[in-house]
Amino acid sequence: MVSKINTISTMPYKGVRDFYPEDMFLQDYIFEKMSSVARLYGYTEYGASVLEPAELYRAKSGDEIVNEQTYTFKDRGDRDVTLRPEMTPTIARMVAARKRELPMPLRWFSIPNLFRYESPQRGRVREHWQLNVDIFGVSSLDAEVEVISLASDIMKAFGAKPDMFEVRLNSRLLTNYILYTHLALPEEKAHALLKLTDRKDKMSEPEFREKVLEIIAEKSEEYVKIMSASSLDDLIALLPNSAKIEGVANFKELKRRLREHGIQNIRFSPTLTRGFDYYTGTIFEVFDTDPKNRRSLFGGGRYDDLLGVFDADRIPAVGFGMGDVTVADFIDTHGLAPVYKSLTTLYIGRTSEQFNVNAVQLAEKLRQKGISAEVDLSDKKVGEQIKTAVKKGVPYVTIVGDDEVSSNNFKIKRLADGQEEILGESAIADFFNAK
Ligand code: HAM
Repeated sequence: MVSKINTISTMPYKGVRDFYPEDMFLQDYIFEKMSSVARLYGYTEYGASVLEPAELYRAKSGDEIVNEQTYTFKDRGDRDVTLRPEMTPTIARMVAARKRELPMPLRWFSIPNLFRYESPQRGRVREHWQLNVDIFGVSSLDAEVEVISLASDIMKAFGAKPDMFEVRLNSRLLTNYILYTHLALPEEKAHALLKLTDRKDKMSEPEFREKVLEIIAEKSEEYVKIMSASSLDDLIALLPNSAKIEGVANFKELKRRLREHGIQNIRFSPTLTRGFDYYTGTIFEVFDTDPKNRRSLFGGGRYDDLLGVFDADRIPAVGFGMGDVTVADFIDTHGLAPVYKSLTTLYIGRTSEQFNVNAVQLAEKLRQKGISAEVDLSDKKVGEQIKTAVKKGVPYVTIVGDDEVSSNNFKIKRLADGQEEILGESAIADFFNAK
């Protein structure tokens, strides 16, 4: 009897990615730009485990989010564990734990991998990496100005021009004023409206109007009008007494300060909500302006009260999260992707396997001088070995054989144009180091 063999799929788990060397090259490029700009602003790197107690998210995000959007399971000790879906609760926990020792203002960054149980689609996966930049201990607008400038500088480091993206701004104080003071809505309706408003861009005007009507019957027209305001001044005109709203005065000042910093591509957006409950003031989200990729790239805001869940004193905080997937889509859309190149400098082939030892010795000498070298070690013919070097994208190749071993001179060939150079063994490292 023939037994049935169950083959295992070579596909990765749903919604997560494998990183082949070309993918890793892009990922490293993105992380390097992110972290070098963060370091230029004086931010230091921190890290934490992907595992967190589920209660960390239940406290601020609610059971619904934990149950539906996270990977939460019981460990063998009957503890509820969650694979972190975002980094903000973790950084808040870490800061609260050492708040007396940590030097304020505290500037930290991290590029963690995060897990969200999503329906995979363009820009949305189940595991992504997210640069988190957060500043603690500054309650003035200086924090917002710094963090948004930093974000804008990262975009520039990717080669983005200001017209390729747009920073949308709003304030939770303004949204709260509209919902709770101006329209005097109960919590439940306000919440439902916020969720709907978050999706306004994804629906037609009549559809939005109809859905608002389902939530708040009598004030629906007014709400639609407010949410259609195209500038802060238009919105203020619709809100009597708005001069008294804390968010408004602040907000005008923020726009002015950002413009002073050369950031012109900013726009007020009353429909900007951001998903998390912990934001308390300014919120912002950066959008791609290309019609092919009109989507949110990243976002953040001020969250002054999050440390309260740890029974710690209030510490003001501002930060943002920038995902690797949305950034890669942006880079791709605008033709800004770096060309893949191997990080190995020299590929060493041999005329036959008998020269393996000589080839390895040459590689070792070069490595000691900081030159990366890879030895073929296969039983392939010389032509095939060179083809392997080309396929791997290694820029230079040399072949070790009888002549090379006896003369100790090597022909170094640049694969891009076939240019050759004959060098004594001791001159090879200098040749590459001078490049
Ligand atoms: P968020 O808006 O949920 O904010 O995520 C920030 C960014 O992470 C998104 O704009 C997107 O670039 C990326 N992202 C989020 N979910 C996914 C996904 N499923 N697939 C691919 N990329 C994704 C936060 O997480 C806040 N904790 C950010 C923050 C830090 N606020 C203050 N400090």
